[in-house]
Amino acid sequence: MSKAQTVSTTASDPTVAAAAAQFLSPLVLGLEALTVNGKQAHWHVRGANFVGVHELLDTIVAHAGDFADTAAERIVALGLPIDARLSAVAEKAGATAVPAGFAQSDDVIRAVISDIDAILADTQAAIDGLDEIDLTSQDVAIEIKRGLDKDRWFLVSHIAA
Ligand SMILES: [Fe+2]
Repeated sequence: MSKAQTVSTTASDPTVAAAAAQFLSPLVLGLEALTVNGKQAHWHVRGANFVGVHELLDTIVAHAGDFADTAAERIVALGLPIDARLSAVAEKAGATAVPAGFAQSDDVIRAVISDIDAILADTQAAIDGLDEIDLTSQDVAIEIKRGLDKDRWFLVSHIAA
């Protein structure tokens, strides 16, 4: 009688999984913070182009949630957990530029761009760091960078000359 075949949890090599977790975890935490701080911005923006900026911020929040999900699920698909509890998110990305109360749209836009730029720096580090380790995880980071670059463009176009 043959022994039941053991099915491994994932098909990944431990080095690949560790690298994916190392480089993609900061993206998950930064993007989760953006979903919260972007809502703060969405609720409190005032002034020029109110409707457009208010609605754009909701779109950016939705994208951030999708990007976080993609990065987190890549880590989990490789067999590792991620601590994305609120305490971990706050520790990584607590220092938002988004103000606590009402603010004019130009200031809100600059604040959200600043938060996005911090995530973009981690995203570039992930693209570079994963280059010789795991192209599939690097592709996740590239997809996120492409999306954040576009959202940043939509924001910056409101304040560019
Ligand atoms: Fe809303």
